[in-house]
Amino acid sequence: MRLKGKIAIITGAGRGIGKATALKFAKEGAKLLIGDVNDSDLETVAKEIADAGGEVVTMNVDVTNRQQVREMVEKAVEVFGKLDILVNNAGITADGQLHKLTEEQWDKVIDVNLKGVFNCSQAAINVMREQGNGVILNASSVVGIYGNFGQTNYAATKWGVIGMTKTWAKEQGRKGIRVNAVAPGFILTPMTKKMPENVLDMMKNKAPLQRLGTPEDVANAYAFLASDEASFITGAVLSVDGGIVM
Ligand SMILES: NC(=O)c1ccc[n+]([C@@H]2O[C@H](COP(=O)([O-])OP(=O)(O)OC[C@H]3O[C@@H](n4cnc5c(N)ncnc54)[C@H](O)[C@@H]3O)[C@@H](O)[C@H]2O)c1
Repeated sequence: MRLKGKIAIITGAGRGIGKATALKFAKEGAKLLIGDVNDSDLETVAKEIADAGGEVVTMNVDVTNRQQVREMVEKAVEVFGKLDILVNNAGITADGQLHKLTEEQWDKVIDVNLKGVFNCSQAAINVMREQGNGVILNASSVVGIYGNFGQTNYAATKWGVIGMTKTWAKEQGRKGIRVNAVAPGFILTPMTKKMPENVLDMMKNKAPLQRLGTPEDVANAYAFLASDEASFITGAVLSVDGGIVM
């Protein structure tokens, strides 16, 4: 088990990539606090983990709410005694081309995908600094690297996440804290199921591996980066995209 004895927080763990990551981390021996804005989804994931013998607590947490985020970190430490891994997975889309995008769409996506990552990492960092170890993993995207039609706001956040990842890797490395990002390609989750079929087909055909990704493909990358096998890796952006960007 790669994550035996590790304590992890995963945000947006109710479905999609966050859910797959929670299941994978539990299977690898981690004890989890899983957060999401959707309680019933969270309970379903928690039950699946508990039924398989894993240890998990749930918390309704909106990553844009700094008070809730502080309480999330406090709860993980209170229940499990420490915090080894934070996976900043929660993210949303609110698409529109530049000439149509509203200020509300812009603000909403920036608030969750960019400020949410800042909020959670800032809440966790002092615990990790005092421990002298920790891993922060951030959800970027191929869209942050090469842009995407209709995703001004989303692309800005996912590129911003890379900037924060590299900055924190430089700042916090001396305290034993590693910070990395994962940049998934097009992964079949409720988020992408909203996209038109022809666009998904196009993305599939663009990838040298000729398929869309699964949530488990991304969860496996998070598990590796969270584990001690990645102990000399920090400031990296790991593409999990079937080769779309190289
Ligand atoms: N699916 C893809 O193709 C893809 C590609 C690249 C990057 N990503 C990124 O991976 C992450 C997960 O994506 P997904 O496809 O699983 O999405 P998803 O929409 O299936 O799941 C996102 C989860 O985050 C939760 N969430 C939303 N806002 C929240 C908030 N404010 N606070 C806490 N939780 C919140 C949702 O309730 C949901 O459970 C996102 O950051 C996304 O941008 C996804």
